Amino acid sequence: MSESSATGQQSKAEAKPRKFQAIKGVRDLLPAETPLWNHVEETAHAVFGTFGFSEIRLPIFEPTELFARAVGGETDIVSKEMYTFEDRDESMISLRPEATASVCRAYIEHNMQQLPQPVKLYYMGPMFRRERPQKGRYRQFYQIGAEVLGGNDAPGIDAEVIDMVMTFFDKLELQGLELDINSIGCRECRPKYVEVLRAALMKVKVQLGADSQRRIETNPLRVLDSKLESEQEVIATLPRMAAHLCAECAEHFAEVKRQLELRGVIYRENWRLVRGLDYYMRTTFEITAQGLGSQNAVCGGGRYDGLVELLGGPPTKGIGFAIGEDRLILSLQESGKAPAPPGRDIYIAWMGEKAFATAIRAAKDLRAAGYRVELPATEQKFGKALGQADKLGSRYALVLGEDEVSSGEWTLKTLADGSQKKYTESELLEYLRDTNVGGQQRT
Ligand code: HAM
Repeated sequence: MSESSATGQQSKAEAKPRKFQAIKGVRDLLPAETPLWNHVEETAHAVFGTFGFSEIRLPIFEPTELFARAVGGETDIVSKEMYTFEDRDESMISLRPEATASVCRAYIEHNMQQLPQPVKLYYMGPMFRRERPQKGRYRQFYQIGAEVLGGNDAPGIDAEVIDMVMTFFDKLELQGLELDINSIGCRECRPKYVEVLRAALMKVKVQLGADSQRRIETNPLRVLDSKLESEQEVIATLPRMAAHLCAECAEHFAEVKRQLELRGVIYRENWRLVRGLDYYMRTTFEITAQGLGSQNAVCGGGRYDGLVELLGGPPTKGIGFAIGEDRLILSLQESGKAPAPPGRDIYIAWMGEKAFATAIRAAKDLRAAGYRVELPATEQKFGKALGQADKLGSRYALVLGEDEVSSGEWTLKTLADGSQKKYTESELLEYLRDTNVGGQQRT
């Protein structure tokens, strides 16, 4: 190929710009969905507020070391799934894979131990993990989480945190909820149990798959998490944490369960519930919902006394949870709980320059009163305007032609039945108010 033809090809390629697509595992939330996202988030603000929690907004990225220390350098999240890069000053930075570490960092940084304890915080926003994308699993996903830091480790706190998330789910009418709880012990009793478990696993090693065999060394607790069909029978015979809890942990767990019962929270004890983050101790829990397939955990959480200390702060108790908002939304959509995106209240069909001036003023007044108004920027034929109004899901068309402008009597057409009536501007506002058009949108 001659040089000139090669350049020719290149300029041809340049003429057609690349069509971009969102990166694998990340997605746009489109207007058909965002009303449900807003509804979920508004409900979280309201419900968490009634439990005395305040919102904290955290950075999207933090020093890599914060997550390595808090979540654990050997965990899948930190060792395989973080988006990490070197900043221009050569420091290592990661997009947050979760927010508990950031909340603890903020607690220390802002001396929150000087506030009345415990400090009750909640947050919502995107998290990033480079997992294999599938239904309910994304590389940018959204969490709504809450943390209680400081004060004591009363089991009533564990129960209230769980009660709060269940109350939130009930308010959203999330279907098919199941709450699993467990206690994974403390720094005293857990290492002893892990050794007992490791010894038992060694005896059945040949019956386990390669992943579990490897985990006997690295993290035997994770074997309990295995979903592999062939391993289930063997796992059922393994020693259980409950039988190895120290007296304090056993008492704490018993009291958490009693407190849940006091609150009418239905739970299932699941001795195989181990969480994939290192900071947990004692109470751990997970909530599943229906309609989600294999990624059915909508919430995970637990107690993490000592994490603040590990991050350089004072000895501090801690417990919290994070809800997978994407999964929560999916489950609501599957059970038909998604509200329809709002259409327009009023489409202004104007004809003629004079009418346009009136239409602009009408739009301003109606919007100030809180109605969703569509004001076409160019004149349209009457039939086309009505067609457009219909496509946008408008409830009414406000017809403004020469006649309406000169008489001051505006025509309001109800699109559902085609009926129409004339109103002066003040009558119109009164009529709309009386028929409660715009619902809660109107202030
Ligand atoms: P986690 O179990 O790693 O816990 O995540 C909590 C929830 O986030 C999961 O149950 C799931 O619903 C959602 N989630 C996790 N990864 C993805 C993903 N790739 N795509 C969609 N959803 C996902 C934590 O993050 C802890 N910080 C929770 C916590 C707070 N513990 C104490 N305080």
